[in-house]
Amino acid sequence: MDNQSKHEKNHENDNTLTNRQGHPVTNNQNIRTVGNRGPATLENYNFIEKISHFDRERVPERVVHARGAGAHGYFESYGTAGDEHISKYTRAKLFQEKGKRTPVFVRFSSVIHGGHSPETLRDPRGFAVKFYTEDGNWDLVGNNLKIFFIRDAMKFPDMIHAFKPDPVTNIQSPERFFDFCASSPETFHMVTFVYSPWGIPANYRMMQGSGVNTYKWVNSEGEAVLVKYHWEPKQGIKNLAQKEANEIQSTNFNHATQDLYNAIEQGDYPEWELLVQIMSDDEHPELDFDPLDDTKLWPNDQFPWIPVGKMVLDKNPEDYFAEVEQVAFGTGVLVDGLEFSDDKMLQGRTFSYSDTQRHRVGANYLQLPINAPKKQVATNQSGGQMQYHVDRKDKHINYEPSILGGLKEAEPAGKEYTPTVAGKLVRESIDRNDNTKQAGQTYREFEHWEKDELISNLVGDLSQCDQRIQDAMIALAEEADEEYGRRLREGLTNAANENQQTEQPSIRKQR
Ligand code: HEM
Repeated sequence: MDNQSKHEKNHENDNTLTNRQGHPVTNNQNIRTVGNRGPATLENYNFIEKISHFDRERVPERVVHARGAGAHGYFESYGTAGDEHISKYTRAKLFQEKGKRTPVFVRFSSVIHGGHSPETLRDPRGFAVKFYTEDGNWDLVGNNLKIFFIRDAMKFPDMIHAFKPDPVTNIQSPERFFDFCASSPETFHMVTFVYSPWGIPANYRMMQGSGVNTYKWVNSEGEAVLVKYHWEPKQGIKNLAQKEANEIQSTNFNHATQDLYNAIEQGDYPEWELLVQIMSDDEHPELDFDPLDDTKLWPNDQFPWIPVGKMVLDKNPEDYFAEVEQVAFGTGVLVDGLEFSDDKMLQGRTFSYSDTQRHRVGANYLQLPINAPKKQVATNQSGGQMQYHVDRKDKHINYEPSILGGLKEAEPAGKEYTPTVAGKLVRESIDRNDNTKQAGQTYREFEHWEKDELISNLVGDLSQCDQRIQDAMIALAEEADEEYGRRLREGLTNAANENQQTEQPSIRKQR
């Protein structure tokens, strides 16, 4: 008997409401009670299943990057890195052939604010891409800006605590933000970007992306180069002045999600080009910055951006929770031909992502369709909450090695990359740690309106901070660039004078 006729026999069709046990629900309006005024009885399975599932609808929000939007699409390789075949640098299969397409899922996000916060707030934006390659998944977990606040993973929880609301009042304050930043001068370059219009991208389609941390590419000879990844939007780049953001926020706090969703629904598919910067795999003592320092840009006149492919987003998620909320990206998720660098921040990140996802989504998060690779998966992992299926053919032999059967190790894909690592174990900051030079260069490269916005945004927030914090931030700006420092000092002095003038009438009133 086919399903349709079975349904009909049971007075059911495809639209018949059931519970999760498959029982048809004949009354979804009333719980079962003794008489129609109650009391209710506790054996009421349909009600209890429904309400207790509802009680569990939320999983823990991401500890950062809680507010996001996602879409499906594909990455198309150029097969080359500039004029050269890409195999010179990497043997990663997804890059090898011109025109080769790999499915992707992308999640854009803001960082600090909660799940339904306005999308107009000043904040970096996340730009995380999952490539479902023939060799398994590759996650490129980046941001819109090309640098970051800190260069050591040890500081990340403190940084996020300072940027999030006060644990007593639950109120966010610029004083907490700047208290941390003034005390961590390596943040100054990032602060310069975030307080400029680059801190409020107009939407997700018109922003850049960057892997931020330094990775490696490995070729078939087992030779490596250092790489940085960047996404360039074909739609152009657009950022907002604070006033424009305020105007949008007063009527719409979902504008970026809506913009992405609508564009894809209307067939106006957003597109980004993937570009890389490449450096030989060494410490580069000739540079005045460390290539592994994620608070620094690699100057593009010395390390040009080389196009290697493009990405198109052409399908909206079918269910926000199943896809956008449950998707789990991690910096440790690499395929053959792609490698880590020694960037210690990247290594700290790599532990953190999968760790939080085992807590946030569950031990078997990689079995969910959005996270599972689109290729054969065969492991000896067994059990754990919500195991959905067994991913090996031989159901008995869940160990390796075995004479009886079970899974066997794969053949290596090429010559293994075996870097030599030697040195004293220490807890130290890197040597080349000039915190303000590049911030000064970035300031000087801003357009006039961007500089004006930067100063006015900084003055607006810093004027609410303790004088010692203001002084430390002015000192960093002065160190970065004479004009930057002078304008910030003048702005803060004027703001203090204005505050005094506006405060006086109320003091007089009180007397
Ligand atoms: C040591 C520094 C860092 C640590 C410990 C860290 C940790 C985390 C954690 C725990 C999450 C939540 C993941 C989840 O619940 O699925 C997250 C999300 C994210 N992080 Fe980081 N992060 C760090 C630095 C960075 C940097 C430098 C970038 C930019 C390159 C970045 C980009 C992202 C993005 C885009 C997401 C959201 C991914 C998504 O859409 O699901 N993080 N991070």
